[in-house]
Amino acid sequence: MKYYLSEPCPTVSDLEKKYVLEAIESNRVATGKFNALFEQSVRELTGTQNALAVVNGTSALHLALSVLGVNAGDVVFSSTFTFIGSVSPIIYVGAEPVFIDSDQATWNMDPNLLEDELKKRSKSGEKMPKALILTHIYGQPADMESICLLCDKYGIALIEDAAESLGATFDGKHTGTFGRMGVFSFNANKIVTSGGGGMLVSDDSSLIDKARFLANQAKDKSDHFEHSEIGYNYRMSNIQCAYGYAQLQEIAERVDGRRRVFEAYKRMVNQPPVTLMPEHEKARGTRWLTAMCFEDEDRVGIKQYMDAESIETRPLWKPMHIQPVFKDAKALVNGTSEKFFNYGLCFPSGHNLSDADVEEINKRIIRIL
Ligand SMILES: Cc1ncc(COP(=O)(O)O)c(C=O)c1O
Repeated sequence: MKYYLSEPCPTVSDLEKKYVLEAIESNRVATGKFNALFEQSVRELTGTQNALAVVNGTSALHLALSVLGVNAGDVVFSSTFTFIGSVSPIIYVGAEPVFIDSDQATWNMDPNLLEDELKKRSKSGEKMPKALILTHIYGQPADMESICLLCDKYGIALIEDAAESLGATFDGKHTGTFGRMGVFSFNANKIVTSGGGGMLVSDDSSLIDKARFLANQAKDKSDHFEHSEIGYNYRMSNIQCAYGYAQLQEIAERVDGRRRVFEAYKRMVNQPPVTLMPEHEKARGTRWLTAMCFEDEDRVGIKQYMDAESIETRPLWKPMHIQPVFKDAKALVNGTSEKFFNYGLCFPSGHNLSDADVEEINKRIIRIL
């Protein structure tokens, strides 16, 4: 038996088949009723006022920066412990990224590092960030209390990269809805997928209206094709929305399933040298992937052993500040995310894994350690 990190869409339900077929048979494959239904269901799930379905999470972040007026020469602070799709849009708009390391309590952006840098910049007159992209890594909410306070105090537009955290809350409020804008991904590896897709959300309808305009090639109101500015072709198709809409009906069960799997790991392997990803006391994460850090242990050796045992594992995200492409970028570091990368692995986390499956994997972890 092979244990996958996350089953690639373990089942295609009758509902998915029904809605996709309906989208095809309606002859509205590009734009149709499922675009609106998918957006509406994300609004309802997250409690946000406005949502826009786009081709992927990366394009949603690009739109967020664009509509918030982030331009060439601006500075954008960002989590360093994240996936490249979170930060490439900073480069697309010509802005300068500044990466901020993680804390131990959430594995997300360290509010103390952020505060120190903001204080320093406001005193010295160094350019302040126009926006901050905050990732909720592996479905685990960041410390929203501290980070929102700082963004408010210094007037920074907060964009939440909730690509991995659909279904996660902090103090009962859905991730992606704290900042000016939030982004979700429906890439195939996520808890619910549309085979590729993204969603941009905001309580500010003018921002979403503008993003919708840009995502549709910035077509002015006219009966011919009139353009006063440059936009993008970022629309999500009706077929993909139909698939995503059907998948979304199962989000609660899938999050519960992933949390159960995490707890099954925790029961057996949550002791030195293993640290499982923590959870802020006010947070309820999705446990999208069960992430572990092996103190001072050779993760390459552990991975090789797991490969031989047909257990798929993956190193934790390589921080952005040590990526070759960002070798010249500024970064505020404390060693935390580099430690996660050097000593961490993700383990099979799909909601379909049984407790017995996790026990089998745990036995191997204990054996190799
Ligand atoms: C943290 C994070 N940000 C952004 C993205 C980009 O989303 P997409 O792949 O839909 O472009 C992803 C993943 O896919 C992600 O994991």
